Amino acid sequence: MRLTDCHNIADFRRLAKQRLPWPVFDYIDGAADDELTKARNTSAFDECDLVPEVLAGVGAIDPSLSILGRRSALPLILSPTALQRVFHWQGERAVARAAEKFGLWFGISSLATVSIEEIGSLVSTPKMFQLYVHKDKGLNRSMIARCKAAKFDCITLTVDTIVSGKRERCMRSGFTSPPKFTPSSALSYAIKPRWALDYVLREKFALPNLDTHVSAGTGEAVSIADYFNTMLDPTMTWATAEAIRQEWGGSFCLKGIVSARDARRAVEIGADAIMVSNHGGRQLDGSRAPFDALREIVDAVGGEIEIICDGGIRRGTHVLKALGAGADCASGGRLYLYALAAAGQAGVERALTLLKDEIERGMKLMGVTTPQQLDRERLRWR
Ligand code: LAC
Repeated sequence: MRLTDCHNIADFRRLAKQRLPWPVFDYIDGAADDELTKARNTSAFDECDLVPEVLAGVGAIDPSLSILGRRSALPLILSPTALQRVFHWQGERAVARAAEKFGLWFGISSLATVSIEEIGSLVSTPKMFQLYVHKDKGLNRSMIARCKAAKFDCITLTVDTIVSGKRERCMRSGFTSPPKFTPSSALSYAIKPRWALDYVLREKFALPNLDTHVSAGTGEAVSIADYFNTMLDPTMTWATAEAIRQEWGGSFCLKGIVSARDARRAVEIGADAIMVSNHGGRQLDGSRAPFDALREIVDAVGGEIEIICDGGIRRGTHVLKALGAGADCASGGRLYLYALAAAGQAGVERALTLLKDEIERGMKLMGVTTPQQLDRERLRWR
């Protein structure tokens, strides 16, 4: 299978599976417990039908819109995700450059393998920094100050990782950051020599936004579950979130909201946006899918805060359904991560080309010329 054989996100997933050592693939692809929530994130879209209206004059359409005050060429954000250099040696740089080429927002994680400063100067496309609140308060302050200096456009505070979800695929594989070559895992890496050579011979793995303060994850190999459970601050509250928003002073988003009451609290602390998200099903299995939760959140706070439907998106029509249900835009992680793992920047660009085509084709077939024309009148739940 080659890159040119990839015609949808599921194809990139297959190619990524072929190219990655299985512990790395399972870290990306896996989720918590029985992975019910991960599956529901996507299947929730299947219970809603699009209602096209015809003869609408769709010779010229414009899928662009404003997200947090910045123009975006599509109603789609590339969500921040961790450890990208483990998936492909080009890591976050590839995603940043592809996002810029397509005129999209993208994000990097606190656990990114490229520094805030480098990403800040590499691309001018709008970017968010996904902040994990650590017990080490100096580290939290340092990340916020670095984002200010590097002129990031938004801080996105993760609120759904107060402890780690139970990621059984990672428990089985022993996946750590950085990857550890133990006698039992060595074979899984050795049978993917191209990945292994890139990992060993290219730039050394680092977590440059954290390693100024903590050695776990860089100098010391730990599982992501152990990292979350030992490094992150479980005492975080709404007051913590509000204090971070004030310290940062710029656009502020909360990532990991699925409750309408929490969406209201987000408005009350002055957040500019929420990502309706369950962390790709990687945290609380059995929790609500973003698309299922969307309507009640839109009814509670729509118009008062920007609402981003994050998770499960694999098709352009999923983006259109999220918009129809009232989201301001959609976002996703795996939708570009499989492509990054499969083929670096070229992979991400191909995935974005496919999604752009699907969004544009979908708009034309729906009979709309702008994303704003999609509303609940254009959807029916079965
Ligand atoms: C995850 C974190 C790091 O593994 O976002 O889900």
